[in-house]
Amino acid sequence: MLKDKKIILGITGSIAAYKAAYLIRGLIRKGAGVQVVITPSGKEFITPVTLSALSRRPVISEFFSNRDGSWNSHVDLGLWADAMLIAPATASTIGKIANGIADTMLATTYLSCKAPVFIAPAMDLDMFAHPATQQNLERLRSFGNYIIEPAEGQLASHLEGKGRMEEPDRIIGILEEFFAAQHTLQKKKILITAGPTYEKIDPVRFIGNYSSGKMGFALASACARRGAEVTLVTGTVSLSAAHPAIKRIDVESAEEMYEAAVSAFPDVDAAILCAAVADYRPEAISTEKIKRESAKDMTLHLTPNKDIAATLGAMKRKGQVVAGFALETNDELAQAGEKLKRKNLDFIVLNSLREPGAGFRVDTNRISIIDNRGEVQHFPLKDKRDAASDIIHKLETLLT
Ligand code: C5P
Repeated sequence: MLKDKKIILGITGSIAAYKAAYLIRGLIRKGAGVQVVITPSGKEFITPVTLSALSRRPVISEFFSNRDGSWNSHVDLGLWADAMLIAPATASTIGKIANGIADTMLATTYLSCKAPVFIAPAMDLDMFAHPATQQNLERLRSFGNYIIEPAEGQLASHLEGKGRMEEPDRIIGILEEFFAAQHTLQKKKILITAGPTYEKIDPVRFIGNYSSGKMGFALASACARRGAEVTLVTGTVSLSAAHPAIKRIDVESAEEMYEAAVSAFPDVDAAILCAAVADYRPEAISTEKIKRESAKDMTLHLTPNKDIAATLGAMKRKGQVVAGFALETNDELAQAGEKLKRKNLDFIVLNSLREPGAGFRVDTNRISIIDNRGEVQHFPLKDKRDAASDIIHKLETLLT
């Protein structure tokens, strides 16, 4: 998978810089070409001689060579690469690249890089846990960069905790998986619904739910990364979809989501209906803010919304795949199976509200996938991004 892949390896000033030597050796053995870009402080930890011998290329550190004035073009480098890996990434470099501070060759190369970027932090546990670092990492994630979470263990400070750079073999494994998955949904068009719907009561109030949209957005990026063209119809969320192949349509109510989904569906190969759609909406929306003084008790009359999943299930033509979600509190498998049939879905993803760490607002999910042949797969608790890969894997088997 890494054969002939061109990889920029960014190295920064951390004790873990010695692991970069293993990274280069591993990547070269797999047939990749590696161009090292190191920060000035990185050179305090590992010598360019070691790195250039292993990578078989001169190491780049400065903007130009002091010897002959020749210029290192970060723009050309950024265009050359199939991937950029920053390992180890210090808090300082993470802070710089998250905020566009381009005062090292490595940071300018990052800003010029068109290829996917992987970042493997390495630092003391308190530095890693600091909100400044966490916010910077979140920012990098929102740019579509991949953060390779550090492992727990003994740190250079002799403290134990989260901050150790992930081991080189595992990092290389992540790159291999990335390249292997890159084209599995090439030329496929996928519709995803995500987030909550808001059903207006009056100009300032609505009926909503706790859906954060995280699962749907994770699915959208995972599909886009695999080469799909994604239409993401989303309710109100505070997330950004950072991939050029994601066309985002913002809606508020179930009716708006229905219109957007039904009009996009004929043109797609698959639909994943992840949104938490309100089953009911107020029959009448007050044009003025309802005043407390207007009545002692208050009754809202609700009317049912259309079921998007069932509508698309009924519209489905041969070859199209429709997948839904089920969030159940009791008798989960049977309820989900019944929903799958009723809505004519190809598979349904079940998450139970009873599972700690699964469901609304959290970053993790514990899912089971039930398909229309009655096959059931159970998965352990995972980050929603990893759960998205399991769901897409199921989709891939049905699309091919
Ligand atoms: O029936 P229930 O709401 O539990 O079904 C959940 C599944 O149906 C989810 O995939 C959800 O996105 C979808 N759904 C929908 N339109 C609705 C209600 C649910 O697409 N009005």
